[in-house]
Amino acid sequence: MIPILKKNRKKELILPKHIAIIMDGNGRWAKKKALPRTAGHTFGASNFKTIAKYCSKIGVKYLTVYAFSTENWKRPEEEVNSLMLLFKEYLKEALSDFQDENIRVKVLGDKSAFSEELQELILNVEEASKNKDGMVLNIAMNYGARSEIIRAVKLLVNEVQSGNISIDSITEEMFSKKMYTEDQPDPDLIIRTGGEYRLSNFLLWQSAYSEYVILNVLWPDFKTKDIDDAIEKYSNRNRRFGGI
Ligand code: IPE
Ligand code: IPE
Ligand code: MG
Repeated sequence: MIPILKKNRKKELILPKHIAIIMDGNGRWAKKKALPRTAGHTFGASNFKTIAKYCSKIGVKYLTVYAFSTENWKRPEEEVNSLMLLFKEYLKEALSDFQDENIRVKVLGDKSAFSEELQELILNVEEASKNKDGMVLNIAMNYGARSEIIRAVKLLVNEVQSGNISIDSITEEMFSKKMYTEDQPDPDLIIRTGGEYRLSNFLLWQSAYSEYVILNVLWPDFKTKDIDDAIEKYSNRNRRFGGI
C-alpha cells in the first residue's frame, strides 16, 4: 500500500512501476485565459516539475513524459523557440535543484536536432544524475515512436551486417533493447491530458499492453490528486495480457 495515497480510498492501490504522461493542452489552457500559447507552456513546464517530484515521492520507478514530438517542429517558429528556451531553463534548474532529489534524468529522442547549447545541457544533466538510484525520469524530446522503431531496425541491421547476430535470432527482447527506453520496463499506465483519444506517435512499441487514462483536464490544471485518481483507476483494471 502506498501510504500517501491511502486517504479516503477504499481499495488497496497498485502502484504502477512505469507511468507515462502525454502532457497535452497547454495551448488551449492559455487560450481560455486569453494568454499567448507560450504562457501555457510556461505554466505547463512548472506543473511538470511538481508532478515529477510527486511521482518520485510516492515511489514510481519510471516516469516518461512527452515534452516535444518530432511533429511539433511544424509549429510557428516563435512557439518552438519558446519551448526550446523552457527546456534549457528546466535543465539548468535540474542541475542544481536535483542535487537533493534521487532522480535520474534521461532524454529520449533525437538530440542532434537541438542547438549545441541544449545538447550539452542534456548531456550534463544525464551525466550528473546517472548514479541516482531513485526514479528514472525519461523526458521525450524530439521524440517520435515511428522514428524510434526505424532507428532500432537500423541498429539491428548493422549488427546483422557486422556478423554479430543472425536475422533468425532477432527477438522482441532484443528489439526492445534498441528502443530509447533500452532495459526499462514498458509503461503500465499512460495518462493523456487534454482529452484527445490518440497516441500522437508516442511509445508505439512499448505501449502494447499499457492501460490508458484519458482526462479532459488541460495539462497546466493537472494536479497531484489526478495522479492519485489515475492510479486508483489503474488499480481497478483487470490486466489480462491476452490470457483469461
Ligand atoms: C502540449 O500542449 C505541449 C506540446 C505539444 C509541446 P499543446 O501545445 O499541444 O496544447 P494544445 O493541445 O494546443 O492545447
Ligand atoms: C502530443 O501532443 C505531443 C506532446 C504532448 C508533446 P500534440 O498536441 O502534438 O498532439 P496532436 O497534434 O494533438 O495529436
Ligand atoms: Mg496538443
